Amino acid sequence: MSIRKPPLDTADAAVEIEALKADSFGRISLMRGPQGVFVRRDLGHVPLWLRLPAWWLARREARGLQRVIGMQDVPLLLNWDGRRLDRSYMAGAPMYLAPPHGDLAYFRQARRVLGQLHRCGLAHNDLAKEANWLVLDDGRPGIIDFQLAVRGNPRSRWMRLLAREDLRHLLKHKRTYCPQHITPVERRVLKRHSWVRDAWFATGKPVYRFVTRRLLKWEDNEGRGPQP
Ligand SMILES: Nc1ncnc2c1ncn2[C@@H]1O[C@H](COP(=O)(O)OP(=O)(O)O)[C@@H](O)[C@H]1O
Ligand SMILES: [Mg+2]
Repeated sequence: MSIRKPPLDTADAAVEIEALKADSFGRISLMRGPQGVFVRRDLGHVPLWLRLPAWWLARREARGLQRVIGMQDVPLLLNWDGRRLDRSYMAGAPMYLAPPHGDLAYFRQARRVLGQLHRCGLAHNDLAKEANWLVLDDGRPGIIDFQLAVRGNPRSRWMRLLAREDLRHLLKHKRTYCPQHITPVERRVLKRHSWVRDAWFATGKPVYRFVTRRLLKWEDNEGRGPQP
């Protein structure tokens, strides 16, 4: 794919400051380049037999981020060259380390950000995980990890359904941290399960668990999401 050359030349002379996470699908590092700090996913560390799915997921993230270039509260895509995916760094902490207890402003803004994403024709699809929600240093929400994001026409039935699932995941976090502010309408959204979610629990989730726990030996404890 051709992705617009980044405003910052991150490919050169960047050094790793800190490893943020490493698993079978790559190593995520905080890097310092000539223009400042950014986050890199490097597929160079991925075992050969997993290169293809890892590349596919990284490309999916790059394409998703490309669609929302210029949007606040999501990482800015800096570069994707088929092996390294560079994104801007957003200073903050994941939701499970900095829980937004009683912080209605956080959840209001999070809902706005989700709305913007969806209007751009992007559904995130991995927002049950608290690790993918940041509480930024100024208290605003940040959304990361677009590996499972889906692009499409925001008016299509499919995208509207995925958007509703994203919203449901946000509302589950709100129910955990801000239950006193859940509105009756939000309670109804929380109760309404889509067939996508039911199909996932019946088939996808057991397969996912087998692959991640047995084959990849992931601990699966990063950012436990609330249960459905
Ligand atoms: N743009 C970013 N700004 C700040 N932290 C980030 C950013 N991207 C990733 N991180 C940190 O690195 C971790 C792993 O990144 P993520 O993209 O979620 O990878 P994975 O798909 O392996 O979960 C995140 O949980 C977060 O702590
Ligand atoms: Mg993640």
